[in-house]
Amino acid sequence: MHEQKKGLFCVIEGMDGSGKSTLLATLRSVVEQGGEGAPCAVLGGRRAVFLAEPTRLPTGIELRRRLSQTELPPTEEWIEMFRADRQANLDMFVLPALRRGDVIFQDRYYYSTAAYQGAFSDLGPGGVLALFDSWCLVPDLLVYLDVDSETAFLRMADRGGNREVFEERDRWLRIRDAYEEVLPAHTLRLSALWPPSALADEVLAAVGHCLSRETSGSEA
Ligand code: TYD
Repeated sequence: MHEQKKGLFCVIEGMDGSGKSTLLATLRSVVEQGGEGAPCAVLGGRRAVFLAEPTRLPTGIELRRRLSQTELPPTEEWIEMFRADRQANLDMFVLPALRRGDVIFQDRYYYSTAAYQGAFSDLGPGGVLALFDSWCLVPDLLVYLDVDSETAFLRMADRGGNREVFEERDRWLRIRDAYEEVLPAHTLRLSALWPPSALADEVLAAVGHCLSRETSGSEA
């Protein structure tokens, strides 16, 4: 019987305006040079899979519709919606990709719920984190793009368009404090002031490090 391949689960978190989308687009352009879904030399011949929460599944589409409204829905109801979307993401995309041995770049995960919903919930950020910590797959690598409010608000203003509910300043600051409460000590924190290519290099170096640890661990 073949030994089951194990992929790598890399999660990228960050505030609105941190440049997370730009970083993910840059990572994508580097690892998909041989085409989308092609084995990638930088990833030791593995394939890259890019996922995001909210997902593009019906659960995620409904979440995005609610995000574009000005009123916050009741927090507990929203936590439940994110939970359902996350469960679907794990079952349909994350676990199969890990079984194939792929490297997943996951845009937002349960640290987002702990920060964004935890900041406004009676449970608090730590209480919301605990709801997910107990059943969600833990990332192999957690990256946080650290941004100050001045930079983030300038970037969001440049982006134009309608603001989502969490882009209002007081809320933004509360959410950033909540992130600080829940990010584990081993989080790879990167300054959002770096150029996207330098950030992508750092993330790929960390992924390479995790992959070599996996390989030497499985050979031991
Ligand atoms: P974001 O990654 O910023 O999407 P986009 O690049 O399309 O703007 O995520 C959308 C919003 O979803 C963001 O404001 C944070 C919010 N969100 C939560 O509030 N809780 C969660 O658990 C997740 C995953 C996202």
